[in-house]
Amino acid sequence: KKKSIEKYTFYSPEWDNYLDEVAQYVQTSRFLPKYHLYPKTGLMNDPNGLSYFNGKYHVFYQWFPFDAAHGMKHWGHATSDNLVSFEDQGYAIIPDEEYERHGAYSGNAFEYEGKLYLYYTANYKTDNGKIAKQALAVMDQTGKIEKYSGNPIIEGAPTGFSDELRDPFVFKRDGNFYMLLGGSRFADGQRRIGFGDIGEILLYKSDDLFHWEYLGTIDLPIDKGYMLECPSLTRIDGKDVLILSPMGVKREKYRFQNRFAAIYLIGKLDVKNRTFQVEMLDELDSGFDFYAPQTFYGRADQSLMIGWFGCGEQIYPTDDEMWKHGLTMSQNLSIHNNRLYRYPIEELTNSFELNQCKKVKELFPNTKHYHVSFDININENFELKVGSEDDYWVFSNQVETGLVSIHRGSLSAKIDEGYGQVRSIKAGDYFENNVTVDIFVDNSFVEVYLNKGERVFSFRVFLVNEKQIVKFSKQKKATLGNYRETHYV
Ligand code: FRU
Repeated sequence: KKKSIEKYTFYSPEWDNYLDEVAQYVQTSRFLPKYHLYPKTGLMNDPNGLSYFNGKYHVFYQWFPFDAAHGMKHWGHATSDNLVSFEDQGYAIIPDEEYERHGAYSGNAFEYEGKLYLYYTANYKTDNGKIAKQALAVMDQTGKIEKYSGNPIIEGAPTGFSDELRDPFVFKRDGNFYMLLGGSRFADGQRRIGFGDIGEILLYKSDDLFHWEYLGTIDLPIDKGYMLECPSLTRIDGKDVLILSPMGVKREKYRFQNRFAAIYLIGKLDVKNRTFQVEMLDELDSGFDFYAPQTFYGRADQSLMIGWFGCGEQIYPTDDEMWKHGLTMSQNLSIHNNRLYRYPIEELTNSFELNQCKKVKELFPNTKHYHVSFDININENFELKVGSEDDYWVFSNQVETGLVSIHRGSLSAKIDEGYGQVRSIKAGDYFENNVTVDIFVDNSFVEVYLNKGERVFSFRVFLVNEKQIVKFSKQKKATLGNYRETHYV
Protein backbone atom coordinates (compact mmCIF):
# COMPACT_ATOMS: atom_id res chain seq x y z
CA LYS A 1 0.00 0.00 0.00
CA LYS A 2 2.96 2.26 -0.62
CA LYS A 3 1.85 5.78 -1.44
CA SER A 4 3.60 7.70 -4.09
CA ILE A 5 4.73 10.85 -2.36
CA GLU A 6 6.27 13.87 -4.00
CA LYS A 7 10.03 13.95 -3.37
CA TYR A 8 10.01 17.35 -1.67
CA THR A 9 7.22 16.70 0.79
CA PHE A 10 7.91 17.69 4.38
CA TYR A 11 6.41 15.99 7.37
CA SER A 12 3.16 17.19 8.86
CA PRO A 13 0.82 15.37 11.29
CA GLU A 14 -1.58 14.43 8.50
CA TRP A 15 0.98 11.77 7.54
CA ASP A 16 1.05 10.15 10.98
CA ASN A 17 -1.26 7.23 10.24
CA TYR A 18 0.49 6.38 7.04
CA LEU A 19 3.96 6.67 8.59
CA ASP A 20 2.88 4.48 11.51
CA GLU A 21 1.83 1.81 9.04
CA VAL A 22 5.11 2.12 7.21
CA ALA A 23 7.00 1.87 10.53
CA GLN A 24 5.16 -1.35 11.34
CA TYR A 25 6.02 -2.70 7.93
CA VAL A 26 9.70 -1.82 8.45
CA GLN A 27 9.65 -3.86 11.66
CA THR A 28 8.90 -6.98 9.59
CA SER A 29 12.25 -6.68 7.79
CA ARG A 30 14.64 -9.58 8.38
CA PHE A 31 17.62 -7.29 8.23
CA LEU A 32 17.17 -4.87 11.12
CA PRO A 33 20.07 -4.12 13.44
CA LYS A 34 19.95 -3.91 17.25
CA TYR A 35 22.90 -1.73 18.13
CA HIS A 36 23.11 0.48 15.08
CA LEU A 37 20.74 3.39 14.62
CA TYR A 38 18.46 2.99 11.62
CA PRO A 39 15.45 4.93 10.37
CA LYS A 40 12.07 3.83 11.64
CA THR A 41 10.84 4.68 8.13
CA GLY A 42 12.59 5.85 4.98
CA LEU A 43 16.20 6.78 4.44
CA MET A 44 18.82 7.83 6.97
CA ASN A 45 22.10 9.35 5.90
CA ASP A 46 24.70 11.61 7.55
CA PRO A 47 24.95 11.93 11.31
CA ASN A 48 24.35 15.59 12.24
CA GLY A 49 24.66 17.73 15.35
CA LEU A 50 26.39 15.04 17.40
CA SER A 51 26.80 16.27 20.93
CA TYR A 52 26.73 15.69 24.65
CA PHE A 53 24.40 18.40 25.89
CA ASN A 54 22.44 18.92 29.07
CA GLY A 55 23.36 15.50 30.46
CA LYS A 56 22.48 13.51 27.34
CA TYR A 57 23.95 12.43 24.08
CA HIS A 58 22.18 13.81 21.03
CA VAL A 59 22.38 12.16 17.66
CA PHE A 60 20.67 14.01 14.85
CA TYR A 61 20.68 12.63 11.35
CA GLN A 62 19.67 13.25 7.75
CA TRP A 63 16.29 11.70 7.24
CA PHE A 64 13.77 11.31 4.45
CA PRO A 65 10.90 9.65 6.28
CA PHE A 66 8.69 8.85 3.30
CA ASP A 67 10.75 6.41 1.26
CA ALA A 68 13.98 4.41 1.12
CA ALA A 69 15.40 7.01 -1.25
CA HIS A 70 17.00 10.44 -1.12
CA GLY A 71 14.29 13.09 -0.93
CA MET A 72 13.32 16.02 1.26
CA LYS A 73 15.85 15.83 4.10
CA HIS A 74 14.71 16.45 7.65
CA TRP A 75 16.82 16.25 10.78
CA GLY A 76 15.78 13.27 12.86
CA HIS A 77 16.76 13.14 16.52
CA ALA A 78 17.62 10.44 19.04
CA THR A 79 18.92 10.88 22.59
CA SER A 80 20.91 8.51 24.73
CA ASP A 81 22.69 8.13 28.06
CA ASN A 82 25.29 5.72 26.77
CA LEU A 83 25.21 5.74 22.96
CA VAL A 84 24.01 2.14 23.13
CA SER A 85 20.29 2.45 23.69
CA PHE A 86 18.50 5.40 22.18
CA GLU A 87 15.27 7.18 22.66
CA ASP A 88 13.60 8.33 19.48
CA GLN A 89 12.81 12.05 19.58
CA GLY A 90 11.27 12.26 16.14
CA TYR A 91 11.71 15.35 14.00
CA ALA A 92 14.22 18.00 15.05
CA ILE A 93 14.16 20.11 11.90
CA ILE A 94 11.27 19.99 9.46
CA PRO A 95 12.09 21.98 6.32
CA ASP A 96 8.86 23.93 6.14
CA GLU A 97 10.29 27.39 5.45
CA GLU A 98 10.75 28.91 2.03
CA TYR A 99 14.54 29.26 2.45
CA GLU A 100 14.92 25.49 2.97
CA ARG A 101 12.36 24.37 0.45
CA HIS A 102 14.48 21.43 -0.75
CA GLY A 103 15.60 20.13 2.60
CA ALA A 104 17.58 20.68 5.79
CA TYR A 105 21.02 19.32 4.94
CA SER A 106 23.90 18.35 7.20
CA GLY A 107 25.64 20.35 9.88
CA ASN A 108 26.94 20.17 13.42
CA ALA A 109 26.03 21.31 16.92
CA PHE A 110 27.83 23.85 19.06
CA GLU A 111 27.04 24.45 22.70
CA TYR A 112 27.04 28.01 23.95
CA GLU A 113 25.66 29.55 27.13
CA GLY A 114 23.44 26.58 27.91
CA LYS A 115 21.98 26.28 24.44
CA LEU A 116 22.75 23.97 21.58
CA TYR A 117 23.24 25.76 18.26
CA LEU A 118 22.35 23.50 15.36
CA TYR A 119 23.90 24.64 12.11
CA TYR A 120 22.64 23.22 8.85
CA THR A 121 22.46 23.85 5.15
CA ALA A 122 19.14 25.05 3.80
CA ASN A 123 18.93 23.33 0.44
CA TYR A 124 17.43 25.71 -2.10
CA LYS A 125 17.15 24.90 -5.78
CA THR A 126 16.11 27.16 -8.62
CA ASP A 127 15.92 26.67 -12.39
CA ASN A 128 19.28 28.38 -12.53
CA GLY A 129 21.02 26.07 -10.06
CA LYS A 130 21.13 26.18 -6.28
CA ILE A 131 21.46 29.22 -4.09
CA ALA A 132 23.72 28.35 -1.17
CA LYS A 133 22.10 29.04 2.19
CA GLN A 134 23.21 28.15 5.69
CA ALA A 135 20.80 28.16 8.59
CA LEU A 136 20.60 27.89 12.36
CA ALA A 137 18.19 26.36 14.84
CA VAL A 138 18.67 26.62 18.59
CA MET A 139 17.74 23.97 21.15
CA ASP A 140 17.17 25.04 24.74
CA GLN A 141 17.46 23.10 28.01
CA THR A 142 13.92 21.81 27.70
CA GLY A 143 14.70 20.29 24.31
CA LYS A 144 12.66 22.84 22.38
CA ILE A 145 14.18 23.59 18.99
CA GLU A 146 13.52 26.91 17.28
CA LYS A 147 14.75 28.09 13.93
CA TYR A 148 16.55 31.42 14.05
CA SER A 149 14.29 34.19 12.75
CA GLY A 150 17.19 35.74 10.83
CA ASN A 151 17.74 32.62 8.66
CA PRO A 152 19.56 32.12 6.41
CA ILE A 153 22.64 33.19 8.34
CA ILE A 154 24.83 32.95 5.23
CA GLU A 155 23.43 33.36 1.75
CA GLY A 156 25.18 32.70 -1.55
CA ALA A 157 28.68 31.46 -2.29
CA PRO A 158 31.76 33.67 -2.57
CA THR A 159 32.70 34.64 -6.15
CA GLY A 160 34.32 31.79 -8.01
CA PHE A 161 32.65 29.10 -5.89
CA SER A 162 29.79 26.79 -6.70
CA ASP A 163 26.52 27.10 -4.80
CA GLU A 164 27.08 23.47 -3.80
CA LEU A 165 28.32 24.87 -0.51
CA ARG A 166 27.30 23.06 2.61
CA ASP A 167 27.66 21.14 5.84
CA PRO A 168 28.64 23.85 8.37
CA PHE A 169 30.96 22.75 11.16
CA VAL A 170 31.24 25.36 13.91
CA PHE A 171 34.02 25.30 16.52
CA LYS A 172 35.92 27.58 18.84
CA ARG A 173 39.59 28.46 18.50
CA ASP A 174 41.55 31.03 20.52
CA GLY A 175 38.37 32.62 21.83
CA ASN A 176 36.79 33.05 18.39
CA PHE A 177 34.01 31.19 16.63
CA TYR A 178 34.80 29.62 13.29
CA MET A 179 32.81 27.70 10.74
CA LEU A 180 34.05 25.31 8.08
CA LEU A 181 31.95 24.85 4.97
CA GLY A 182 32.46 22.21 2.31
CA GLY A 183 32.53 23.54 -1.20
CA SER A 184 33.68 23.46 -4.76
CA ARG A 185 35.62 26.07 -6.76
CA PHE A 186 35.55 26.79 -10.49
CA ALA A 187 39.01 26.51 -12.06
CA ASP A 188 38.29 29.51 -14.32
CA GLY A 189 36.35 31.42 -11.68
CA GLN A 190 33.20 31.44 -13.84
CA ARG A 191 29.98 30.36 -12.19
CA ARG A 192 28.18 27.40 -13.69
CA ILE A 193 25.24 25.39 -12.43
CA GLY A 194 26.34 22.44 -10.30
CA PHE A 195 29.70 21.44 -8.93
CA GLY A 196 32.91 23.23 -9.75
CA ASP A 197 36.29 21.63 -10.42
CA ILE A 198 38.18 21.65 -7.14
CA GLY A 199 37.00 20.76 -3.66
CA GLU A 200 37.61 23.41 -1.01
CA ILE A 201 37.03 24.07 2.67
CA LEU A 202 35.85 27.62 3.28
CA LEU A 203 36.52 29.31 6.60
CA TYR A 204 34.13 31.80 8.23
CA LYS A 205 34.41 33.70 11.48
CA SER A 206 31.86 35.10 13.91
CA ASP A 207 31.73 37.04 17.17
CA ASP A 208 28.20 36.07 18.09
CA LEU A 209 27.41 32.76 16.32
CA PHE A 210 24.79 34.53 14.16
CA HIS A 211 26.77 36.79 11.85
CA TRP A 212 29.52 35.23 9.79
CA GLU A 213 32.34 36.70 7.78
CA TYR A 214 34.07 34.78 5.00
CA LEU A 215 37.85 34.63 5.46
CA GLY A 216 38.96 32.43 2.56
CA THR A 217 39.75 28.81 1.86
CA ILE A 218 42.03 26.59 3.89
CA ASP A 219 45.15 25.62 2.04
CA LEU A 220 45.09 21.82 1.90
CA PRO A 221 47.98 20.15 0.11
CA ILE A 222 45.98 17.04 -0.80
CA ASP A 223 43.81 15.61 -3.60
CA LYS A 224 40.58 17.49 -2.93
CA GLY A 225 38.50 15.99 -5.72
CA TYR A 226 35.83 18.25 -7.20
CA MET A 227 33.85 18.75 -3.98
CA LEU A 228 34.55 18.43 -0.27
CA GLU A 229 31.59 17.53 1.90
CA CYS A 230 31.08 17.25 5.62
CA PRO A 231 34.17 18.80 7.22
CA SER A 232 34.64 17.92 10.87
CA LEU A 233 37.40 18.79 13.29
CA THR A 234 38.56 17.37 16.58
CA ARG A 235 41.60 17.58 18.83
CA ILE A 236 43.43 14.55 20.10
CA ASP A 237 46.62 14.72 22.20
CA GLY A 238 47.27 18.28 21.10
CA LYS A 239 46.88 17.50 17.40
CA ASP A 240 44.16 18.58 15.03
CA VAL A 241 42.30 15.88 13.19
CA LEU A 242 40.37 17.11 10.19
CA ILE A 243 37.80 14.77 8.66
CA LEU A 244 36.64 15.35 5.10
CA SER A 245 34.35 13.59 2.67
CA PRO A 246 35.70 14.30 -0.79
CA MET A 247 33.91 13.55 -4.03
CA GLY A 248 36.08 12.69 -7.00
CA VAL A 249 39.44 11.76 -5.43
CA LYS A 250 41.60 9.61 -7.65
CA ARG A 251 41.17 5.89 -7.15
CA GLU A 252 44.28 4.13 -5.96
CA LYS A 253 44.90 0.43 -6.28
CA TYR A 254 43.57 -0.29 -2.80
CA ARG A 255 42.23 2.99 -1.52
CA PHE A 256 39.28 5.16 -2.50
CA GLN A 257 37.32 2.34 -4.16
CA ASN A 258 33.85 3.60 -3.27
CA ARG A 259 31.91 6.22 -5.13
CA PHE A 260 32.94 8.78 -2.51
CA ALA A 261 35.64 8.61 0.15
CA ALA A 262 36.06 9.74 3.75
CA ILE A 263 39.53 10.75 4.85
CA TYR A 264 41.33 12.02 7.94
CA LEU A 265 44.21 14.42 8.19
CA ILE A 266 46.35 14.64 11.32
CA GLY A 267 48.32 17.85 11.75
CA LYS A 268 47.85 21.45 12.65
CA LEU A 269 45.15 23.86 11.62
CA ASP A 270 46.23 27.49 11.58
CA VAL A 271 43.10 29.64 11.34
CA LYS A 272 45.08 32.88 10.97
CA ASN A 273 47.01 31.77 7.91
CA ARG A 274 44.29 29.36 6.84
CA THR A 275 46.62 26.40 6.45
CA PHE A 276 46.52 22.81 7.52
CA GLN A 277 49.93 21.29 7.95
CA VAL A 278 49.41 17.61 7.12
CA GLU A 279 51.40 14.99 9.01
CA MET A 280 49.26 12.03 8.02
CA LEU A 281 46.44 11.40 5.60
CA ASP A 282 44.55 8.17 5.13
CA GLU A 283 41.19 6.84 4.13
CA LEU A 284 39.08 6.35 7.24
CA ASP A 285 37.35 3.13 6.33
CA SER A 286 38.26 0.35 3.93
CA GLY A 287 34.79 -1.15 3.57
CA PHE A 288 32.01 -0.59 1.07
CA ASP A 289 29.48 1.44 3.00
CA PHE A 290 30.87 4.38 4.91
CA TYR A 291 30.74 8.13 4.38
CA ALA A 292 30.19 11.57 5.92
CA PRO A 293 31.46 10.82 9.45
CA GLN A 294 31.28 13.50 12.12
CA THR A 295 33.36 13.92 15.28
CA PHE A 296 32.14 15.20 18.64
CA TYR A 297 33.18 15.35 22.27
CA GLY A 298 31.69 12.93 24.79
CA ARG A 299 30.73 13.20 28.43
CA ALA A 300 34.38 13.20 29.50
CA ASP A 301 35.41 15.43 26.60
CA GLN A 302 36.82 12.46 24.72
CA SER A 303 36.85 12.51 20.91
CA LEU A 304 34.15 10.36 19.39
CA MET A 305 32.95 9.63 15.89
CA ILE A 306 29.87 8.31 14.14
CA GLY A 307 29.68 7.77 10.40
CA TRP A 308 26.92 7.20 7.90
CA PHE A 309 26.67 3.47 7.19
CA GLY A 310 26.20 4.05 3.49
CA CYS A 311 27.69 5.96 0.60
CA GLY A 312 26.17 7.78 -2.35
CA GLU A 313 23.15 6.30 -4.03
CA GLN A 314 23.71 2.60 -3.57
CA ILE A 315 21.19 -0.01 -4.55
CA TYR A 316 20.51 -2.62 -1.87
CA PRO A 317 18.50 -5.83 -2.11
CA THR A 318 16.13 -4.39 0.52
CA ASP A 319 15.25 -1.19 -1.30
CA ASP A 320 11.57 -2.02 -1.34
CA GLU A 321 11.43 -2.52 2.44
CA MET A 322 10.80 1.20 3.09
CA TRP A 323 13.94 1.67 5.20
CA LYS A 324 17.50 2.26 4.14
CA HIS A 325 20.92 2.76 5.71
CA GLY A 326 21.83 3.56 9.29
CA LEU A 327 24.74 4.91 11.32
CA THR A 328 27.92 3.23 12.51
CA MET A 329 28.54 2.41 16.15
CA SER A 330 29.93 5.27 18.23
CA GLN A 331 33.68 5.08 18.18
CA ASN A 332 36.45 6.39 20.40
CA LEU A 333 39.16 8.21 18.49
CA SER A 334 42.82 8.03 19.44
CA ILE A 335 46.19 8.55 17.80
CA HIS A 336 48.97 5.95 17.84
CA ASN A 337 52.12 6.23 15.73
CA ASN A 338 50.51 9.25 14.15
CA ARG A 339 47.62 7.18 12.79
CA LEU A 340 43.99 7.66 13.71
CA TYR A 341 42.44 4.67 15.44
CA ARG A 342 38.72 4.31 15.99
CA TYR A 343 37.11 1.60 18.05
CA PRO A 344 33.59 1.14 19.45
CA ILE A 345 33.13 2.79 22.82
CA GLU A 346 33.31 0.59 25.91
CA GLU A 347 29.57 0.85 26.54
CA LEU A 348 29.12 -0.98 23.26
CA THR A 349 31.93 -3.52 23.56
CA ASN A 350 30.59 -4.36 27.04
CA SER A 351 27.19 -5.17 25.59
CA PHE A 352 28.16 -8.65 24.48
CA GLU A 353 27.95 -11.83 26.55
CA LEU A 354 31.47 -13.06 25.94
CA ASN A 355 32.18 -16.77 25.95
CA GLN A 356 35.56 -18.10 26.84
CA CYS A 357 38.24 -17.97 24.23
CA LYS A 358 38.43 -21.44 22.71
CA LYS A 359 40.32 -23.16 19.93
CA VAL A 360 37.71 -23.78 17.27
CA LYS A 361 37.17 -24.15 13.55
CA GLU A 362 33.55 -23.07 13.62
CA LEU A 363 31.39 -20.83 15.72
CA PHE A 364 27.61 -20.97 15.87
CA PRO A 365 26.13 -17.69 17.06
CA ASN A 366 22.56 -18.17 18.20
CA THR A 367 21.64 -14.64 17.19
CA LYS A 368 22.32 -12.35 14.25
CA HIS A 369 23.89 -9.79 16.58
CA TYR A 370 27.28 -10.81 17.90
CA HIS A 371 30.97 -10.04 18.31
CA VAL A 372 33.75 -12.41 17.25
CA SER A 373 37.40 -11.83 18.02
CA PHE A 374 40.62 -13.64 17.23
CA ASP A 375 44.16 -12.96 16.00
CA ILE A 376 45.72 -13.52 12.63
CA ASN A 377 49.33 -13.49 11.55
CA ILE A 378 49.75 -11.61 8.31
CA ASN A 379 52.48 -14.05 7.27
CA GLU A 380 50.02 -16.96 7.20
CA ASN A 381 47.12 -17.50 4.83
CA PHE A 382 43.79 -17.33 6.52
CA GLU A 383 40.16 -17.25 5.58
CA LEU A 384 36.94 -16.73 7.47
CA LYS A 385 33.51 -17.34 5.99
CA VAL A 386 30.34 -16.02 7.57
CA GLY A 387 26.90 -17.15 6.47
CA SER A 388 25.84 -20.51 5.12
CA GLU A 389 26.96 -23.00 2.47
CA ASP A 390 26.11 -20.96 -0.62
CA ASP A 391 25.52 -17.53 0.86
CA TYR A 392 28.44 -16.02 2.75
CA TRP A 393 30.93 -13.19 2.97
CA VAL A 394 34.67 -13.68 3.43
CA PHE A 395 37.44 -12.06 5.42
CA SER A 396 40.87 -13.18 4.26
CA ASN A 397 44.60 -12.69 4.57
CA GLN A 398 46.58 -13.74 1.56
CA VAL A 399 50.36 -13.93 1.92
CA GLU A 400 51.05 -14.06 -1.80
CA THR A 401 49.32 -10.77 -2.53
CA GLY A 402 49.93 -9.25 0.90
CA LEU A 403 46.27 -8.30 1.13
CA VAL A 404 43.73 -8.38 3.91
CA SER A 405 40.33 -8.35 2.22
CA ILE A 406 36.58 -8.46 2.57
CA HIS A 407 34.72 -10.23 -0.25
CA ARG A 408 31.00 -10.00 -0.69
CA GLY A 409 30.72 -11.57 -4.15
CA SER A 410 29.62 -14.94 -2.72
CA LEU A 411 26.48 -13.53 -1.12
CA SER A 412 23.31 -14.65 -2.84
CA ALA A 413 21.84 -11.16 -2.48
CA LYS A 414 24.24 -9.12 -4.60
CA ILE A 415 25.03 -5.62 -3.41
CA ASP A 416 25.93 -2.49 -5.36
CA GLU A 417 27.84 -4.51 -7.95
CA GLY A 418 28.94 -1.50 -9.95
CA TYR A 419 31.53 -0.69 -7.30
CA GLY A 420 33.14 -4.11 -7.05
CA GLN A 421 32.83 -7.02 -4.64
CA VAL A 422 36.20 -6.93 -2.85
CA ARG A 423 37.86 -4.35 -0.62
CA SER A 424 41.49 -4.80 0.42
CA ILE A 425 44.27 -3.16 2.31
CA LYS A 426 47.98 -3.80 1.89
CA ALA A 427 48.69 -5.53 5.19
CA GLY A 428 52.36 -4.54 5.11
CA ASP A 429 51.44 -0.84 5.08
CA TYR A 430 50.00 -1.21 8.55
CA PHE A 431 50.95 -4.43 10.31
CA GLU A 432 53.98 -6.52 11.11
CA ASN A 433 52.95 -9.92 12.40
CA ASN A 434 49.94 -10.43 14.60
CA VAL A 435 46.78 -8.48 14.12
CA THR A 436 43.74 -8.62 16.35
CA VAL A 437 40.47 -8.95 14.48
CA ASP A 438 37.20 -7.81 16.06
CA ILE A 439 34.08 -8.38 14.04
CA PHE A 440 30.80 -6.84 15.10
CA VAL A 441 27.88 -8.33 13.26
CA ASP A 442 24.54 -6.61 13.69
CA ASN A 443 22.46 -8.55 11.18
CA SER A 444 23.00 -6.67 7.91
CA PHE A 445 25.52 -4.20 9.42
CA VAL A 446 29.08 -5.47 9.84
CA GLU A 447 32.12 -3.63 11.21
CA VAL A 448 35.52 -5.33 11.16
CA TYR A 449 38.26 -3.75 13.27
CA LEU A 450 41.93 -4.64 12.81
CA ASN A 451 44.37 -3.92 15.61
CA LYS A 452 41.66 -2.32 17.71
CA GLY A 453 40.78 0.23 15.10
CA GLU A 454 43.94 0.90 13.12
CA ARG A 455 41.97 -0.19 10.05
CA VAL A 456 38.22 -0.66 9.82
CA PHE A 457 35.96 -2.23 7.21
CA SER A 458 32.29 -1.19 7.43
CA PHE A 459 29.91 -2.98 5.11
CA ARG A 460 26.39 -4.32 4.64
CA VAL A 461 25.46 -7.92 3.93
CA PHE A 462 22.02 -9.44 3.49
CA LEU A 463 22.29 -13.11 4.46
CA VAL A 464 19.24 -15.10 3.59
CA ASN A 465 19.41 -17.90 6.20
CA GLU A 466 18.41 -17.16 9.77
CA LYS A 467 21.32 -19.18 11.19
CA GLN A 468 24.84 -18.00 10.56
CA ILE A 469 28.02 -20.07 10.83
CA VAL A 470 31.42 -18.47 11.34
CA LYS A 471 33.94 -20.80 9.71
CA PHE A 472 37.73 -20.50 9.94
CA SER A 473 40.11 -22.05 7.46
CA LYS A 474 42.21 -23.30 10.37
CA GLN A 475 41.74 -23.77 14.11
CA LYS A 476 41.74 -20.46 15.92
CA LYS A 477 41.52 -19.29 19.46
CA ALA A 478 38.37 -17.25 19.17
CA THR A 479 35.79 -15.58 21.34
CA LEU A 480 32.13 -15.23 20.53
CA GLY A 481 29.81 -12.81 22.30
CA ASN A 482 26.10 -12.51 21.74
CA TYR A 483 24.56 -9.07 21.97
CA ARG A 484 22.67 -8.71 25.23
CA GLU A 485 20.32 -5.83 25.03
CA THR A 486 17.68 -4.64 22.73
CA HIS A 487 17.89 -1.01 21.91
CA TYR A 488 16.28 1.83 20.07
CA VAL A 489 13.14 2.54 22.00
C1 FRU B 1 26.68 13.82 2.35
C2 FRU B 1 25.66 14.84 1.91
C3 FRU B 1 25.94 16.20 2.49
C4 FRU B 1 24.58 16.84 2.49
C5 FRU B 1 23.69 15.68 2.84
C6 FRU B 1 22.33 15.73 2.22
O1 FRU B 1 26.20 12.52 2.33
O2 FRU B 1 25.59 14.90 0.50
O3 FRU B 1 26.92 16.94 1.80
O4 FRU B 1 24.49 17.87 3.42
O5 FRU B 1 24.36 14.53 2.40
O6 FRU B 1 21.53 14.72 2.71
